[in-house]
Amino acid sequence: MSDDPTDVPKLDTSVPQTARIWNYLLGGKDNFEVDRAVGDQITASLPHFGTHARLSRRYLVRAVRYLAGEAGITQFLDIGTGLPTADNTHEVAQATNPAARIVYVDHDPLVLAHARALLTSTEQGATAYVDADLRDPEQILKRARETLDLDQPVALMLMGILGHLEDDAEAKQIIDTLLARFPSGSYFAMYDGSDTDPDVREAARIWNLSAEPKYHLRSPERIAALFDGLELVEPGVTSVTRWRPDPADADAEEISQYCAVGRKP
Ligand SMILES: C[S@@+](CC[C@H](N)C(=O)[O-])C[C@H]1O[C@@H](n2cnc3c(N)ncnc32)[C@H](O)[C@@H]1O
Repeated sequence: MSDDPTDVPKLDTSVPQTARIWNYLLGGKDNFEVDRAVGDQITASLPHFGTHARLSRRYLVRAVRYLAGEAGITQFLDIGTGLPTADNTHEVAQATNPAARIVYVDHDPLVLAHARALLTSTEQGATAYVDADLRDPEQILKRARETLDLDQPVALMLMGILGHLEDDAEAKQIIDTLLARFPSGSYFAMYDGSDTDPDVREAARIWNLSAEPKYHLRSPERIAALFDGLELVEPGVTSVTRWRPDPADADAEEISQYCAVGRKP
């Protein structure tokens, strides 16, 4: 498939898709009946799942702000971008550093169709969209190089996507393949669903009855192992609500969405 955002992609509206269900749970409008049906089934068994989705996005915003600010990162590779929403990665990063450069990657045709909303860069910075699969890191690196200088530090973002890879060894190999091309001082940031909450395990079961691609919950220990070889940024592997919360969210409840940010030594 072409990754020209002006092409009309082929959408399968008969199978619920993860990007569209997530968009529905975040309160977005870019979803179809089949996606809303799965979203409604999930929120029937777990009424707070929409809140979990929004709290995960709030972590994404804080992580990007940290990376663009305190960590001094100017380049971002955001794989598993999702449908455009409020506070897209480039908007958050460029609010801190207008020269920030962002490459978005997703394999969902509807994300591609909406990619124009992700290409509203500042003049000093840059954004690009690549239609590619996480399982093809070499292709992602080849295309990312058109926008990013891979000899300078890059923040690799895998937000809510690694659960789509069931095998930990495969996930780790992809992370390591990507990070191997980036210099010391690069970062890896992620969040994903953990298996610590029985209601969320039920939500994942419902999701996987029909949605594509399937989503697999990991224990916090398995999530931590994805950071082997990296220096974890404080507070380490934690619930998304506990990762450097804004003062207003300081006593937000712990939820089973787990996250971490690590630095390549
Ligand atoms: C749960 S959404 C998360 C979206 C966004 N990162 C966020 O945090 O709100 C997961 C995204 O990953 C994308 N995705 C899933 N598997 C993928 C793969 N193998 N390659 C590329 N994108 C993938 C889906 O299309 C979807 O947009």
